[in-house]
Amino acid sequence: MERTQYKQEINMTEALMNRINELISHYPEGKQKSALLPVLHEVQDAHNDWLSIELQDKVAEILAIKPVEVYEVVSFYTMFNRRPVGKYMFEFCQTSPCCLNGVEDLMDYTCNKLGVKVGEPTQDGLFEVRGVECLGACGYAPMMQLGDFYKEHLTKDKVNQLIEDCKNNTIMLHDK
Ligand code: FES
Repeated sequence: MERTQYKQEINMTEALMNRINELISHYPEGKQKSALLPVLHEVQDAHNDWLSIELQDKVAEILAIKPVEVYEVVSFYTMFNRRPVGKYMFEFCQTSPCCLNGVEDLMDYTCNKLGVKVGEPTQDGLFEVRGVECLGACGYAPMMQLGDFYKEHLTKDKVNQLIEDCKNNTIMLHDK
């Protein structure tokens, strides 16, 4: 697997390792690979929301599996990031019901306001806009995910408010 240009400090703290071991303990002896998804979430959350190859190798080592088994999972799911991402990731749903309710206009509006293209972080590393598949909240279209939360029935005014809240650090990203 190609190493990226981005360097990441790996910090497997005692608290993180305790959490990982607790997750592994939910599965039978020898089936620690089954903990891969929740372990990756924990490790990513503890490392600024992204997983370098070196960090993926570390996860493979902890779970005693081949590195490629981790690479396959990380590259398949959009919820795992393989490069540094904006702290506030606006993940707009781009499936039909959200599109029919104007999500593409909202994405354009958000990108223009932030001065970025889809998939590139702002220069200060604070924001990023991404398009994702249906998030299962079609009745609340147009919507996006921000951290662990859904932001629904979006309008330009709501996007403006979200950006302000993020800049002021008054928004919650995680529910734990
Ligand atoms: S189409 Fe957007 S949440 Fe389902």
